[in-house]
Amino acid sequence: MPYQYRVDALFEWIAKINGPEFGDVLDAGTGAHSLSWLATLKVRSLTAVTVEDWRLGELPSIAPGARIVRGEWTDPALLYGEQFDQVLVDYVIGSVDGHAPYFQYDYLERLKPHCRGAVYLVGLEPPPRDGSLLDQVCRVRDACILLAGHRMYREYPSELVSRWMERSGMKVTDVKRFPNRIGARFINGQLDVAKRKLPLFKDRALAAAMERQVEELRASALAQGDQTWGADYVLAGRV
Ligand SMILES: C[S@@+](CC[C@H](N)C(=O)[O-])C[C@H]1O[C@@H](n2cnc3c(N)ncnc32)[C@H](O)[C@@H]1O
Repeated sequence: MPYQYRVDALFEWIAKINGPEFGDVLDAGTGAHSLSWLATLKVRSLTAVTVEDWRLGELPSIAPGARIVRGEWTDPALLYGEQFDQVLVDYVIGSVDGHAPYFQYDYLERLKPHCRGAVYLVGLEPPPRDGSLLDQVCRVRDACILLAGHRMYREYPSELVSRWMERSGMKVTDVKRFPNRIGARFINGQLDVAKRKLPLFKDRALAAAMERQVEELRASALAQGDQTWGADYVLAGRV
């Protein structure tokens, strides 16, 4: 059973400001969620890029008409000479550091020659450093990723990314923030990431202590119920 599109307020907002006309569309950092939304639209063509092999198994069944491209944006040959009417950059900026460290600062310049119309950039504001249980969930997740020897995602504020868009020659036409309602799905998701990293710790005693910490934090964070915390954003731009 292929992944089904779960209605997403951010995508619905993009659909509203774009209107019904979609032409050649690029999903510049694809995944099941963004591709399942794009597959519901009437487009002329749909191209979707990822650098992660594990995604390639599930994506074709989600959007059978799409061209799925496995490529790295640091490679100048990727989509060389191709242009698109709508470019979706869905939670890509924050993830680039995990794949091509420091390239996020040049990423929008790299993307610009492929844009001939609208750019919709979806991102996550950096998590509030407020000492809350949800803040601790994010800190513990990141600590486990680092202790496993892996690279973390790094999120950037909408104001900064908006300036990057302008600097790369895109005109930002609309900005919308969406406060996040955080509950069990987020807490379990982030702490499960942390737990999967424990076998990679060199220090087994530290891994055991961290596992206890993860489960104590899970219980406390779940007990406080849903919270409004942090925000997503969409920056709409034009070339
Ligand atoms: C967090 S995921 C995006 C989530 C996705 N839009 C969804 O709906 O699930 C980031 C995507 O950007 C891609 N990506 C990140 N850095 C990249 C790079 N340097 N080159 C190519 N793709 C990259 C990842 O492979 C992944 O497909």
